Amino acid sequence: MHLFKKQQHKTHFLALAAVTADGRITLDSSAMPEWTSIEDWEFFQEKLLGVDAVVAGRSTYEAARMYISKRVAYVLTSTVTEPRTEGTVTFVNPDITDLRALLGKYSRVAVVGGADAYRTMFDLGLCDELYLTIEPVAFGRGRELLTETKNPVRLKLLSTKTLNRAGTIVLRYEVLH
Ligand SMILES: NC(=O)c1ccc[n+]([C@@H]2O[C@H](COP(=O)([O-])OP(=O)(O)OC[C@H]3O[C@@H](n4cnc5c(N)ncnc54)[C@H](OP(=O)(O)O)[C@@H]3O)[C@@H](O)[C@H]2O)c1
Repeated sequence: MHLFKKQQHKTHFLALAAVTADGRITLDSSAMPEWTSIEDWEFFQEKLLGVDAVVAGRSTYEAARMYISKRVAYVLTSTVTEPRTEGTVTFVNPDITDLRALLGKYSRVAVVGGADAYRTMFDLGLCDELYLTIEPVAFGRGRELLTETKNPVRLKLLSTKTLNRAGTIVLRYEVLH
């Protein structure tokens, strides 16, 4: 008799973020970024075509509700004790619900920010790849991409791509676990 080892399905998590040259993702938590390039928006949309679901923090969801609510989306929030679904959007508290198990049915999941959501997903080990767009602008203030992670995030650069003549670049990293 042959014994077949069940193939372990593993969800691939990719984070997508746009930062200024000084590493900021936003000036104001309540607004959608208006300083990112059209080319980055197109790149972002293209990457989202290849995912089954997105994960966003509640503030990002509020800022981009018109886009996120059209997708299969998981919104991180401390305001629920168990996952609550409205249409295609599920609100989930990652301190209570096992996100890896909840998202395990998907092949590819995109983490779309903001900073609290990135930190949460990195801390939980739910980030395998990072696409970091760097726009040629510096704010000198504003929300940083990552703050207060439990551990340093170690990355391996896989590729770089220039998106436009202004010098917007995308760095593609593998997250080393
Ligand atoms: N440049 C970019 O690529 C990019 C990408 C995305 C967003 N943004 C911008 O970033 C800003 C929002 O970022 P943000 O860091 O302020 O907020 P965020 O990460 O979008 O959302 C923060 C909220 O998410 C919930 N949350 C996150 N982690 C949690 C955890 N571990 N446990 C429980 N709840 C958790 C909490 O919601 P509750 O308060 O409901 O508990 C928290 O207040 C917006 O301006 C947005 O446009 C920029």
